[in-house]
Amino acid sequence: MRSRTRPGERSTGGGGLGVSRRGLLGGGVAVGLSALGWSRALGANERVRIASIGCGGKGFSDLLDTAKSPHAEVVALCNIDESKAHLGAAAEKFPMAKTFTDWRRLLDDAGTLDAVIVSTPDHMHAAPSLAAMHLGKHVQCQKPLTHTLFEARQLRQAAERFKLVTQMGNQIQSHPAYRTAVKLVHDGKIGAVKAVHSWQAGGMPWRKLDDRPAGAADVPAGVHWDEWLGVADTRPFQPEIYHPFNWRAWQEFANGQLGDFGCHILDPVFMALGLTAPLSVRAEATPMNREVWYTKSTVRWLFPGTPRTAGPTIEVTWYDGQGHKPALDVLGLTAADLPAGKDGAEGTLPNSGSVLIGTTASLVVPHVGMPYYVPAQRFADVTIEPEPARDHYTSWIDAIRGTERTTSHFGYAGPLTETVLLGTIAIRHPGALLGWDADAMALTGAAGASGLLTKGYRGGWQPAWV
Ligand SMILES: NC(=O)c1ccc[n+]([C@@H]2O[C@H](COP(=O)([O-])OP(=O)(O)OC[C@H]3O[C@@H](n4cnc5c(N)ncnc54)[C@H](O)[C@@H]3O)[C@@H](O)[C@H]2O)c1
Repeated sequence: MRSRTRPGERSTGGGGLGVSRRGLLGGGVAVGLSALGWSRALGANERVRIASIGCGGKGFSDLLDTAKSPHAEVVALCNIDESKAHLGAAAEKFPMAKTFTDWRRLLDDAGTLDAVIVSTPDHMHAAPSLAAMHLGKHVQCQKPLTHTLFEARQLRQAAERFKLVTQMGNQIQSHPAYRTAVKLVHDGKIGAVKAVHSWQAGGMPWRKLDDRPAGAADVPAGVHWDEWLGVADTRPFQPEIYHPFNWRAWQEFANGQLGDFGCHILDPVFMALGLTAPLSVRAEATPMNREVWYTKSTVRWLFPGTPRTAGPTIEVTWYDGQGHKPALDVLGLTAADLPAGKDGAEGTLPNSGSVLIGTTASLVVPHVGMPYYVPAQRFADVTIEPEPARDHYTSWIDAIRGTERTTSHFGYAGPLTETVLLGTIAIRHPGALLGWDADAMALTGAAGASGLLTKGYRGGWQPAWV
């Protein structure tokens, strides 16, 4: 195992600008001093030159959705997998773009770009995003914003310090369904909110094994495994276990079901209520080992109240795992209060979403479905007007051009991600009431919990902190 460093140890010379002064940004990206902290002023007719890091999987649709802007030009593509399904498809679609298998080399060419989309697995969000931001590049980064809370704070601070246009890829925020839910709460349609319950009751198809497989398999031709691992410790390649998609099962690369869905499902809750940092968090979860995430959890955060909450504090509860939803009586409902199913079947909660319990009514917010009031009988005659969609992707391009704004910029997405990641720390300390002081970044209540605010980095791969 190679040496690992943690923030504060910085044996490879972390400390952000300290590294830059020596001409290196995290992961060995070379940079001239003059490049730091600038971004190009764009003329009215100039196109934003974008690069995609992780241009397969979700990254391919991120790229297509952003490139549909007439003001965007795709100039560079990076993927650790050169096959048709990954780098190949994007290269075919954008034949003029330069191709790379290592994002550090792509950023060596930083003068040719204005903005970067980061759609890599979660453990590799922070390193390329921070390196790009140090170079003055605007960043769109997938959800959850980062793998650790410390990284999320860093991305927020970097965006602020370098004055960059940022957007997290929780695109459902811009969908009429979530926008309508937020508007209804802002318009006081359910009164003040007393409590929130959110859930994702789907399975976790990425869990293939309960522990790390023994042995090693040959790395397929065209797959750059060391670059895939990036900041993580070296481990042998295994087909179908990590790349693609199944990395979600592993603590080293992701944050389980809550990490995967929290930044989507909790987003309209955060935005509707104007939540900030929680005061405390407590979780229950199925047992897990050092490597693989849990299968079922319940997480409760206590937040300070806001002008839209009924009390001085508000509890938000999360449920995940196959079939794990809040009990109807906890929501103050019976099946008769929910809209009937097909052919008059008893009403059920959606498979994922939230219920916001208000002083005058409650609002069900399905994950990607139009919200509705409950008890349904009382609102049978009420029509909810959908809010228009925004374009989550092209609004980022327009914001770079100065004609729009982004809504999931890192000033918003950072605290949302921090909340989700506090939940994933609580899951690893089941039953403990963890107190959180966001300004001091101090987590109390369980020995070892604060160590999970950050992680170690493989030698040579430490991100460039701000
Ligand atoms: N917003 C959404 O609805 C949504 C949906 C799915 C995934 N995601 C997020 O998108 C990201 C990617 O998820 P996925 O399901 O597409 O994963 P995936 O493993 O299927 O695809 C990742 C792609 O990035 C490439 N890649 C991996 N490491 C790389 C590196 N270091 N440099 C360059 N390329 C690299 C892979 O070869 C692959 O093409 C994750 O952060 C995930 O949480 C978001």
